[in-house]
Amino acid sequence: MTTPTKISIRGLTKNFDGAAVNALEHIDLDIPANEFVTFVGASGCGKSTLLRTIGGLEVQSAGELIVDDRAVTGPGIDRAMVFQHYSLYPWMTVSENIKFCRQLAAHTRDRTSSDVEAASGRADALLRLMGLSAVGSAWPNQLSGGMQQRVAIARALMGKPDIVLMDEPFGALDAQTREVMHDLIRYVHKLEKATIVFVTHDVEEAIYLGDRVVLMAPRPGRIDTIYEVPFGDQRTQDLKHAPEFVRLKREILDRIRETSGMKTDLEQLQRLSGAQGTTDEHLEAV
Ligand SMILES: Nc1ncnc2c1ncn2[C@@H]1O[C@H](COP(=O)(O)OP(=O)(O)OP(=O)(O)O)[C@@H](O)[C@H]1O
Ligand SMILES: [Mg+2]
Repeated sequence: MTTPTKISIRGLTKNFDGAAVNALEHIDLDIPANEFVTFVGASGCGKSTLLRTIGGLEVQSAGELIVDDRAVTGPGIDRAMVFQHYSLYPWMTVSENIKFCRQLAAHTRDRTSSDVEAASGRADALLRLMGLSAVGSAWPNQLSGGMQQRVAIARALMGKPDIVLMDEPFGALDAQTREVMHDLIRYVHKLEKATIVFVTHDVEEAIYLGDRVVLMAPRPGRIDTIYEVPFGDQRTQDLKHAPEFVRLKREILDRIRETSGMKTDLEQLQRLSGAQGTTDEHLEAV
């Protein structure tokens, strides 16, 4: 049985400032339901723009963006977003933050007492899942960064989104907390069966989490290479030291450097320092 396509992107182009900035140029990609797909690429290659467009926060200049066979025309509760900065409501407790999205949805739907009961049950289950049961009545500013991001993820999951869009969600966390979050988010993905689109600067994170890693290149923002990640579903932190993993990481890092033009900068630096050496020798000789 083939997995249905969840997100279909065809010829997607996004320009800013008239046509001065070509943030995305003719992106073609199908994302199957349930996939965990990660995006990497040099700064400015359009990762956030693509994510925001899928989330309905940006409108494309050309091309098609189809989710569940329907063109995206704006944000929807089927697509939840998590950003690098935790964006919790500081005037709400942890538990209230998590329930908030459901409350928003309730304004647009008939709300029954069993809806409310189900929502409370789900909020409690998410608190437990995220290891936040003990801090349900705390205020966001009383929590560490890692805990705040868990609350943000729980809140995103509260409305049972089909798609979770994450833009460098762990970028501000320390390395140890990030490792814990990696295993947690993989577990959540398996449990909730959501399609996850995840943007990161961290190639190791992209490989460890992803079924596929999409490498984008800048100027204009485009898809350069798609890597299938061959490590199956059972992944533990040790995988990051396996030769195959390290090799793939090296390959992707090299390609990012090539596409970003940074290799050229390095070569220029080496040429310059070579020239400097010759000048120094010349000066010493006179
Ligand atoms: N609202 C905007 N107005 C004008 N230009 C924009 C806007 N948003 C993004 N851009 C430009 O579009 C290009 C892609 O930006 P985007 O933020 O999507 O890149 P990115 O890959 O997420 O970068 P980073 O890795 O630094 O987060 C950049 O050149 C950026 O300056
Ligand atoms: Mg970005």
